[in-house]
Amino acid sequence: MQALILAGGKGTRLRPLTVYTPKPVVSVMNRPFLVYQLEILARAGITDVTLSLSYQPDKIEDVIGDGSEYGVKVNFVTEPSPMGTAGAYKFAANAEGGTTVVLNGDILTDVDINHVIECHRGRKADATLVLARVDDPSRYGLVETDADGNILKFLEKPKPGDLSETSVNTINAGIYILEPSVLGLIPEGENHSFEYNVFPAILEKGLKFNACILETEYWRDIGNPESYLQAHLDFLDGKIKGFDLPASGASEIATAASVDDRSLLAEGCVVKPNAKVINSVLGPGVHVEEKAVVENSVIWGHSRVGSHVEMDGAVLGRGCYIGKNAAVRPGTVLGDKASIPDYSKV
Ligand code: GDD
Ligand code: MG
Repeated sequence: MQALILAGGKGTRLRPLTVYTPKPVVSVMNRPFLVYQLEILARAGITDVTLSLSYQPDKIEDVIGDGSEYGVKVNFVTEPSPMGTAGAYKFAANAEGGTTVVLNGDILTDVDINHVIECHRGRKADATLVLARVDDPSRYGLVETDADGNILKFLEKPKPGDLSETSVNTINAGIYILEPSVLGLIPEGENHSFEYNVFPAILEKGLKFNACILETEYWRDIGNPESYLQAHLDFLDGKIKGFDLPASGASEIATAASVDDRSLLAEGCVVKPNAKVINSVLGPGVHVEEKAVVENSVIWGHSRVGSHVEMDGAVLGRGCYIGKNAAVRPGTVLGDKASIPDYSKV
């Protein structure tokens, strides 16, 4: 069994974090995001992994390397121009064939991939989609099934009018098991979408289209800042199990400072007297000056938080500077090297 990770999107909804860092390798709990996907594949014994790239491919290759650190063998395929989700699969799959596990490169889950493969094989499906239940399906691909798990309808990014006609809350979780029969539905060398083209075509052609619904597993698309921050808060809350999270590195924490047990600090951080770090994740070399309070936040490496700053529910990119006495309020997201003047309220 082989796997393909679709990691070529531009990550526009996660801007400004993705301006210099492509979405597949943004740091989550101080590790490149894709590592969580490589680990669930490795855990299922799937070691032959292709990364399908398009946007800033070199940066992704540099971070992931050959995959051996994560127990897999990674092969990189870069499209000359973005070919869409299905076009990317066709482009990468030509040389391979065989049953393939396909993952959207921005979903965080602890699902057991072998369980999904069993569900696929047990039902002799041409294609199996994993479904998640969400409160608001409008941002996703809405999927209707019958009681036996056959997919009856696929509607990408349903409009309010579509939603008023359905009470379905199951959506495409971005994890597919595909047989080579699906490849035949995708034109060669063209931009093509699973969601808008291939899934409707599977239904039209009457191929066996199967669903496997997540009930207890964790699932989240980390593709916007709010969700990206929430993934960290969920990790800190212990809601996501089974991953080897890094331990906090060696940092200089003043005796009069307080860093709670939940927070994760990479190496080389400095937390000055009477500063507080609560329920937060700090990348390498972050400085928190006297009497600053950082709570429920994620700060990338080498950023500096000035004295008396109050920060809650924020995400800061790499090398940011927050001037003294500033208030950084929930929902704030700053790109790399942002500089906020003293006393600002953002
Ligand atoms: N190689 C390649 N080439 N990858 C691509 C391309 C492309 O042209 N376009 C998108 N991708 C990758 C993205 O990098 C991402 O990992 C994945 O495909 C999905 O794209 P998103 O842009 O994140 O899509 P979405 O979140 O709006 O919707 C998708 O995911 C939802 C679940 O999170 C759809 O599959 C929905 O149906 C689904 O519910
Ligand atoms: Mg997404």
